[in-house]
Amino acid sequence: MTFLHVNGLRKQFGNVAALDGVGLTVTAGSRTAIVGPSGCGKTTLLRMIAGFDVPDSGSIAVDGVLLADALTQVPAHRRGIGLVAQDGSLFPHLTVSDNIGFGLEKKFDGREKLIGELLDMVGLERSMLARKPDQLSGGQQQRVALARALARKPRLMLLDEPFSALDTGLRAQTRRAVTEVLAAAGITTILVTHDQAEALAFADQVAVMRSGQFAQVGSPREIYARPVDAATARFLGDAIVLSADIRNGFAECALGHVAADGGLRTGRAEIMVRPEQIEVLPYDADSDGVTGIASQIDFCGPSYDVTITTDGPRPFLMRLSLSSRSVLGEGDRVMLRVAGAAHVFGG
Ligand SMILES: Nc1ncnc2c1ncn2[C@@H]1O[C@H](COP(=O)(O)OP(=O)(O)OP(=O)(O)O)[C@@H](O)[C@H]1O
Ligand SMILES: [Mg+2]
Repeated sequence: MTFLHVNGLRKQFGNVAALDGVGLTVTAGSRTAIVGPSGCGKTTLLRMIAGFDVPDSGSIAVDGVLLADALTQVPAHRRGIGLVAQDGSLFPHLTVSDNIGFGLEKKFDGREKLIGELLDMVGLERSMLARKPDQLSGGQQQRVALARALARKPRLMLLDEPFSALDTGLRAQTRRAVTEVLAAAGITTILVTHDQAEALAFADQVAVMRSGQFAQVGSPREIYARPVDAATARFLGDAIVLSADIRNGFAECALGHVAADGGLRTGRAEIMVRPEQIEVLPYDADSDGVTGIASQIDFCGPSYDVTITTDGPRPFLMRLSLSSRSVLGEGDRVMLRVAGAAHVFGG
């Protein structure tokens, strides 16, 4: 069931089209991640949905009720939407406890208990309740802002890079804790993040934004495996992009004769293979297939990065990350095989 419906949203700041016709449909109780380069309009979109800014045109509806269009503007505090801003935006003169409890009834019996539970949930010590925001690190402030937004039990939660100041371990742990709370409360959520893995792991639906528009919206697997173009492919992870000849469901390319997902398409096309699809095998003079030479080996602990340059008249060069279980040396000759199908752009 559609919960949030954004249609043809536009917002111009001077000569910058921050939003250039954005459409988005979000199902009730689902999680959407928005990714895109800095300045592409992510924060502007969240601020419009929350009601902190007014669109030039287009519309926003939640649960079938129009919240904003050229004539209507329901005020932010009447939308039931929580926004955790990119900088946390805590009230500097209030303690952590009062920040979290800001939207709660003063006389509500379970107030202190709830504030304590929210603090636990975002992984902060109870001893911090009496501190002011300027006595917290950036990551701690972000977590207080999250707790404050959750306290009001919004029906839609908008998170603008809420985990960006946390280190990797804490980030994954906080993300899981927040995801559980949001799911248990059935709160529909939109997360803006610069972290591709976070977007893919968190979301039911990923929206890739570029220059005020969505380049692609789909499930994490679909967007990762079948991006619309090379820029979208690279935005969600490493991608090996090659030109190929497509015929009968196969691509002839620098990686050999590779199954392709392009349907009935034939002729020249650009294709993509994810690096983890490439199997690097010991060289075998008796076996057919594409061969290459290893160079530029960087040891990274559990894995190592290696450049493989294919043999032949038109060498193709790719950088792969391989498990440290295998040992390759500079100049070693290897065989390459592609597992699964290559993705044909525009196929
Ligand atoms: N109040 C404003 N006045 C003028 N220009 C603005 C304003 N707010 C945003 N912009 C411009 O609109 C564009 C989109 O900004 P926005 O903050 O939405 O980007 P973003 O995708 O959130 O970027 P980041 O990833 O860096 O947070 C940018 O070019 C920005 O400079
Ligand atoms: Mg932003």
